[in-house]
Amino acid sequence: MTERTSPSDAALTEAVRVLGAGGLVAIPTETVYGLGADATSPSAVARIYAAKGRPSFNPLISHLPDVAAARREGVFDATAEKLAAAFWPGPLTLVLPRQAEGSVCDLACAGLASVGLRVPAHRGTLELLRRFGRPVAAPSANRSGRISPTRAADVIAELGGEVDFVLDGGACPVGLESTIVACLDGKATLLRPGGVPREAIEAVLGQTLQMPQGGGIAAPGMMASHYAPRAAVRLGATGLEEGETGLDFANRLGGAAALDLSPSGDLIEAAAHLYEYLRRLDALGTSGIAVAPIPEHGIGAAINDRLRRAAAPRG
Ligand code: TXA
Ligand code: MG
Repeated sequence: MTERTSPSDAALTEAVRVLGAGGLVAIPTETVYGLGADATSPSAVARIYAAKGRPSFNPLISHLPDVAAARREGVFDATAEKLAAAFWPGPLTLVLPRQAEGSVCDLACAGLASVGLRVPAHRGTLELLRRFGRPVAAPSANRSGRISPTRAADVIAELGGEVDFVLDGGACPVGLESTIVACLDGKATLLRPGGVPREAIEAVLGQTLQMPQGGGIAAPGMMASHYAPRAAVRLGATGLEEGETGLDFANRLGGAAALDLSPSGDLIEAAAHLYEYLRRLDALGTSGIAVAPIPEHGIGAAINDRLRRAAAPRG
């Protein structure tokens, strides 16, 4: 089961102090843990890129306590207002034109004219954001290209030596990253499937989301190989091959698998388990992970997106 530990007052005070001193704080959110820094400080943001080994052309999401704070950083059109009203706080990131007077630094936006903004649904982190009073830039707290952490212990395993403070807020209930929608030039475009299903967004808007056009990387983080465990990953498995360990869904592999994302076939439960189970299978030292087919509707689209990237040839 998922839980949400509330960080203590002392932990919040320390997190605010570290952020204010330009340090790195791992923050819990409902999706995954983030590696946070003061989004207004280029030197603090530079430490995020260094700690993750992340290319600096890949912009970061800035986290805010409420929509009023977000409006100071991004220009909301009517679509963005609707989406924020429907899904914030929650697992949705909006990519919007930057406000001329915005405080998020160029490096956090990778020099783009747009900014990624999100109000996360985690009580402790919302309190931290309110107390800190500035946007917090935070990518997922993993090394670039690897599995995102969904528990404080995973952050320490991934980046322990690089983080100044870990705010423990329990296990992340959604378990995979936010959905990213760009509201630019009067269009709403789905840049990354995630915690809010596409169907739910389209129901609120009464229109279908556009898909990114043409070549280039729409959300620069969407490289083919990403979210990758050490083991090779094979998708759509109906049985196990020699040397493989199974990751099941709805008991399709019938007891041959080591772990089942959701024996009852619940996609929300499967999303919450995905990264934790990939980590556990990796820890067994298996050379191959065979994954049962996952339905493509609702949050299943985001699960399959992450699994395809985990299975993609490594660069
Ligand atoms: O759930 C989440 O979104 C987590 C938690 C910590 O909030 N964060 C997260 O961050 O997944 P990260 O850095 O791993 O992924 C952010 C994605 C990247 O693919 C990046 O390219 C895209 O957001 N992004 C950020 N700003 C953008 C912008 N201005 N234009 C296009 N893409 C942007
Ligand atoms: Mg990430």
